[in-house]
Amino acid sequence: MKKKALFLMVMVMSILMSMTAFAGVWRTGAAPNENRWWYDNEDGTWAAGGWQWIDGNRDGTAECYYFDNEGWMAAGTMTPDGYQVNGDGAWAENGVVMTQTVSLPASPTHTGEASSLVVYFSRTGTTESAARRIQELTGADLMVIEAADPYPSSYSDTLSRAEQELDQDARPAVTTTIEDMGQYDAVYVGYPIWFGYAPRPVLTFLEAYDWSGKTVVPFCTSRSSGISASLGEIRESCPGANVMEGQRVNDTSSIEPWLRRLGLIL
Ligand SMILES: Cc1cc2nc3c(=O)[nH]c(=O)nc-3n(C[C@H](O)[C@H](O)[C@H](O)COP(=O)(O)O)c2cc1C
Repeated sequence: MKKKALFLMVMVMSILMSMTAFAGVWRTGAAPNENRWWYDNEDGTWAAGGWQWIDGNRDGTAECYYFDNEGWMAAGTMTPDGYQVNGDGAWAENGVVMTQTVSLPASPTHTGEASSLVVYFSRTGTTESAARRIQELTGADLMVIEAADPYPSSYSDTLSRAEQELDQDARPAVTTTIEDMGQYDAVYVGYPIWFGYAPRPVLTFLEAYDWSGKTVVPFCTSRSSGISASLGEIRESCPGANVMEGQRVNDTSSIEPWLRRLGLIL
């Protein structure tokens, strides 16, 4: 590419960047698109129809990615407007990945300095409310654990499937991936109680990471069961972590005193 064109493109992209360097998360598609990537802006929108600078690992350096109109990232190819993207999808010129320095603005889901993360699984939103309250109080990043095969909206169908998964101690695939778990010291892990335990996708998620040296703070919601019975499996799934006292947090007003008691907020 001619230098002038490259310069212009960087200028245009720099402007775009200032609008797009907000929190978001890379996700892969559900089968049969499990090897294709898209970028969830985590506000109900996603990157689509062109270029976007993304600082996926929040290290202050963004790379530029091309998304088709449906939102699938281009990788290892020439984009329709004639630029090369490498196997990871990043725009590269002669093999050199183009980057931009970004300063991440504070946002409800990402502070840019957070060393803690709230991850939660929620089928009907109760655990999500608790997760959002924890995020609000701690300034942690927030991420939902999603099953690749979503649970049915029917309660009884969910019961049957969850019961079978528990009997088989299954590990249903999840679509959630944390690019750089290493940046987090503390991870709040939230889930509804299903038959006394955490839903199996929560264990799938936990078992995918290295937990050594991290603090894990479990929380749950339920109709009436406590969190205790679920904690053994959470501990087993996070070897090396310091798993703190968990809490049932259906009443979100109980969250602040609990986190204070644990010394996690001032
Ligand atoms: C499959 C399934 C099993 C459940 N098992 C229990 C249980 O053992 N004890 C309990 O108190 N509540 C149980 N519940 C109720 C949920 O834990 C409760 O509604 C929870 O707050 C839902 O959280 P969510 O809205 O984040 O999905 C169960 C719900 C489902 C769908």
